Amino acid sequence: KRPAGAPDKALARPIRKVGVIGAGLMASQFALLFVRRLRVPVVITDLDQARVDKGVAYIHDEIIALETKKRITSDEANRLRALVTGTTDKAQFADADWVIEAVFEELGVKQDVFAEIEKFIAPDAILATNTSSLSVEQIGAKLSHPERLVGFHFFNPVAVMPLIEVVNTPQTSDVTLSTAMVVAGKLKKNAVITRDTPGFVVNRVLAKVLGEAMHAVDTGTPFDVVSEAIAPFGLPMTPFELLELVGLKVGAHVLDTHHAAFPDRFFESTNLHRLAEHGKLLDRDAKGKIKGYDKGALKIV
Ligand code: 3HC
Repeated sequence: KRPAGAPDKALARPIRKVGVIGAGLMASQFALLFVRRLRVPVVITDLDQARVDKGVAYIHDEIIALETKKRITSDEANRLRALVTGTTDKAQFADADWVIEAVFEELGVKQDVFAEIEKFIAPDAILATNTSSLSVEQIGAKLSHPERLVGFHFFNPVAVMPLIEVVNTPQTSDVTLSTAMVVAGKLKKNAVITRDTPGFVVNRVLAKVLGEAMHAVDTGTPFDVVSEAIAPFGLPMTPFELLELVGLKVGAHVLDTHHAAFPDRFFESTNLHRLAEHGKLLDRDAKGKIKGYDKGALKIV
């Protein structure tokens, strides 16, 4: 099915509470956005309390940063903090109208997460996945009600990047799609409806750029030569800064997914996997300013 235009906004369900599954950096970033823009309770869960606490601590720190930058008053900061709860108790998702996940990018993990949460949530709750390149339809394969699932793909850094890809599967109902479009609007993001196809639109294009940049390195061109050569195209970051921003493991996974789906069109990068194991690519000073490439990373390629 081709992506439909957005169905009637009148079909959208009201969102009075949001559930977030996963308390990693991506999930914590969008949990903050939900609480800031929707002003509804947001409950966050993860595998254990330590992960949950880390996510909630990140949100609290970001609320302090917003207050310090005078983007919000201290009263607003207190209100936002009061709306965020972390828990390992899935029963707290029972009255959530919108539940979104950003757990590990592995099909089986996401399928099981949704199949489990469906036992706790209301029959008309909407489910969303922030998957970056897995099939949304397959993610919903173990759901009793796959029509309530939609892809809702944010970009890093969530607070700054203006786009959300809303991924429409053949099963996604008009009510679900309409709710997703209205939610994206309330988050003040531009939403585009995309087909449920590997990489959707953005990562398909990005995988090409990042994959070619890594391939140039893998075949002997130094990192800085690649960066300098494409600088005139005006990207806000070099491909290697972008890989570090999204996470080297996530980047390697995105390239793998594309290579698996279209082996004749996308490279796999063994070196990116090795760099991901090494953990860093760029060398930064104490303030995070980039000084150059990490010496260990340079030895790997
Ligand atoms: N996290 C949170 N906020 C950040 C941030 C980060 N990592 N980096 C920058 N910001 C915020 C800053 O705090 C600042 O906010 P403020 O205006 O409230 O103070 C604002 O962004 C602008 O920051 P700066 O002026 O310091 O920085 P730049 O002008 O250099 O812009 C950038 C930084 C917005 C990150 C820009 O370099 C950029 O657009 N880079 C490309 C990012 C991109 O392509 N993202 C998509 C990645 S793909 C993806 O996420 C999909 C996934 O599935 C793989």
